[in-house]
Formats: sequence, C-alpha cells, structure tokens
Amino acid sequence: MILDTKQEHLSASGTLAARLNGHKVHRSPATTSSTFYKNLEEALDVRRKSNSLYSIVPVDGTEKLIDFCSNDLLSLSTSGALSKEYLAELARHPGFDTNSGGSRMVDGNYPYLEQTEKAIANFHGYEAGVMLGSGFDANVAIWTAIPRPGDVMLYDEASHASTLDGMKQSLTKHRVEFQHNDLESFRTTLSSIFASHPLVRQGKRTVIVSVEATYSMDGDICPLREMIDIANEISRNRGNVQFVVDEAYGTGTIGPEGKGFVCELGLEKEVAVVMHSFAKGLGCHGAIVVGNATIRSIIANFARSFQFTTAPPFAHVAMIKAGYNLLTTEPGREARRNVQSLVGLFYDRMTSHPLWEEAKRRGILSIPLAEGWEERPFLTHVVIVQTLQKYTYWLYFNILFAGCNVMPVSHPVVPVGQSRLKITIHGGNTQEEVEILLESIYSWVEEIFALESSGKKGQATAAAEKVYEWMRAQHLSGFGMI
Ligand SMILES: Cc1ncc(COP(=O)(O)O)c(C=O)c1O
Repeated sequence: MILDTKQEHLSASGTLAARLNGHKVHRSPATTSSTFYKNLEEALDVRRKSNSLYSIVPVDGTEKLIDFCSNDLLSLSTSGALSKEYLAELARHPGFDTNSGGSRMVDGNYPYLEQTEKAIANFHGYEAGVMLGSGFDANVAIWTAIPRPGDVMLYDEASHASTLDGMKQSLTKHRVEFQHNDLESFRTTLSSIFASHPLVRQGKRTVIVSVEATYSMDGDICPLREMIDIANEISRNRGNVQFVVDEAYGTGTIGPEGKGFVCELGLEKEVAVVMHSFAKGLGCHGAIVVGNATIRSIIANFARSFQFTTAPPFAHVAMIKAGYNLLTTEPGREARRNVQSLVGLFYDRMTSHPLWEEAKRRGILSIPLAEGWEERPFLTHVVIVQTLQKYTYWLYFNILFAGCNVMPVSHPVVPVGQSRLKITIHGGNTQEEVEILLESIYSWVEEIFALESSGKKGQATAAAEKVYEWMRAQHLSGFGMI
C-alpha cells in the first residue's frame, strides 16, 4: 500500500486539521456569558456533535497535493494561463477605472461590461445576458425575478442550494420536486401539476423547470432533451413549460468550444434561461444569466441581488473576458481533450482491475458512472466513488496519504447515508497522477479485503490508525473514529 506518512498531512495546518479543527466543542467564556452567543454556540454544537461543522481554515500551501478537488476544472488558473491572458487583457485597456461607479441601474454600466455580456451571451447561443456576482447570486436572481404569481416551479430534488434559496424568495408559492434525473417521476409530477392547476392547464400560467447540466455531487448529466419532449407532450406545445438550466459545471467544459451542455445538445431555442458560472471551467468568479431581451429586462427589474449592488468593476470583467479568450484557443481545447482522456482512463482502469468485480459485489467500491461509460458522447469531470459508509473516511485517508486531494462529501451536503468521495479530474491533471489515484484506491481495497477476512474487530486500516492516533493526541474527534 502507499503510506509514505507524509507528515504534513497531519500537521497543524494540513488538510486533515483544516477539516477537523472546528469540531472541538470549545467556547470562550466571554462569548458564552450572554444568551446571544450561548444560543449561537449551541447551534454550532449540533454541527460539532454530528461532525458536520464547517471551519474556515486557511490552506497554507506547504502540503503539496495533486489537485482532484478544486473548482479550477480546466486548470486555467493554476496553470498560469489565465493570469497571463488577464494581464494581456488589462494591457489592451490602459487607464481603466478600479471602481465601476455604482449599481447597474445608476452609474455602474459601462461599454466594456455591456459588450462583454453581449459577447458571452452570443457565445452561448443567446441574445442577451446579465452578469451577477456569483452563480449563487444568479440562481437567486433567476428564481426571485422570473416566476410570476401562480406559476409553478418544478425542480430536480438534487438542485443546488442557491436554486432552492431563490425559490423560497419567489413571488409564486408553488414549488414541486421530482426525483433526481428520473423521467418517469418528471412526467408524473408535471402531469399532476397540469391536473391540479387549472390556470396552468388553460395555458395562462407557466411551469418553470429547474435542472442542472451536470449535478455537482453526482457527476451525472440531465436528460434534457427527453424532458423537453415530455414537457411539449403534456403542455400540448402551448409553450407554458419552460426550462432553466444551471450550467455551473458545464460552462467552458462541455459542448463545442466549451459553450455548454445546452449548446452540445443544440437546445438553445428550447431552453429559455441558462446560468453560466465563471467560477469553475473559467477559473474566475461571477456568473451570467443568458436568455432573450425579456429575460435580461426581468432580471434587471425584479432581481434585488442585481439591482441593489455595485456593478462588477473593469478588472473583474477583464478576467472573465480573458477566461473566455482561452476557451476558444489551445489552452481551453487542450484542457477539455485531456479531461476526456483522463476520465476515460480512470473508468477503464477501475473497471478492468482484477479486484473490481468482487469489490463491487461486496459494496467496497461503487462508481455509478462507471457503468456504460464507453457509450457516452462525453464524460464529465466529476467522478463519484462510494464505499460502505463506515469506510468512507478510511478510503479518503488512503488517497490523501498517496498525495491526492479529493473531496469527502457527507451530510448535510448529501442525504444521510450517502457519503461519498468526489473526485474532480482537471484539464491540468496527468496520466501519472490518475495512476497514483487508482493505485491508492486499489491498495486500499486489498487492505480492506485482508482486514475483513482476518475477522479482527475494532481494527482500522494503517492510514486510518495513523490519523486516529494523531487525532487522539490533538483531542480531535470525527471522521468515523473507532
Ligand atoms: C450546480 C451549481 N449551481 C450553482 C453554484 C454556485 O456557483 P458559484 O460558485 O459561482 O456561486 C454551484 C457551485 O458549486 C453549483 O455547483
């Protein structure tokens, strides 16, 4: 097995410490003296006790890990390509202002921002676009501004928190979910909305469907074309079922030149609204909502997160522009090709390994997207690996000790009992790095097989024993410690 005991993983500033440090139930006497802080700390205790407290701990960069975790999907940021193009874009506009001057509705609108928005919208196959501070803000803007009273919002149960938060602020109170990516559930739910809402049935109100191009915690893609067909059938082509597609993981990564999933399927005419985040494939920050001129105007008029905030300054828009410049040139193309080849390599090696079938049968490994991967027209960056719940962190430790950073995901991000490891394969990853990852997974499988057949109770894997020893010394708990 790979256990090179890289001590930095167990250092005070390492990844594990960062994930665990906030779990200690500690309160300073000063903050617990008042009811106000006592109540806040009690709320945090609930998280601490279930080992689901989030802590904001700086990563000091001394721990050199292979990146299978970050949002820099095409590695445009970490490779330095984006900063170079960004500086070039700034140099093309000497004397730029650092402040935009106000909100978009007052002094904050300027030609470069308008032109960039329009160019990005056109790139993604739409007439108009409006930038927002983040993908989160953009989803909140969409769902607060677009549905009108009496409309019905129909959403995939795996929808992102920002979509759900936006819907809670919507003018319509009708919200219905369907089972994740399940066409039968979508059909039944949509039919029952038509049956129970006369104004929808009469074509006077709209059902607005929320889906994601790629689901970030599952790595799977939405059966969008089939859903649109079902919607047309049930609405009898009245046009009062419309789609909003969140492309957070599709922007820059899927489709011709990274135009996105909707463009890959050629559904720009069928999908009314698309949200593209700049925070993942582009390696930047911010987002755009694209649609037609009506959609742009409705966001400008009804989305408070657009209206009551300062417009993005030139420097920020220039970074986004630089990201788009890279998508359509060799850095972007090469990164997308590399991802396809490495994700394929991962599935191929995982499923052809001599231990695969047995590991799968015993539930020691489960990789939902490995089934039929060869048949798919394209692969997504996100690979989900599950094991028995009690082993999730043990597998994580092994991968970490092999020098790879992947993301353990547990409740409340995913439902209880569905913890998993999220592995994100980037444009800048190499074949050698993927092989290190594969080796760390299969060396762990061998160790688990040996452990299970030894019949010894209460014994963990070598990596887990090491982590638990360190945690005991640090008075930390969590990570399924035994
Ligand atoms: C599906 C989805 N939508 C929206 C967002 C939010 O995007 P941003 O990070 O730009 O705020 C994310 C971020 O993880 C996401 O995965």
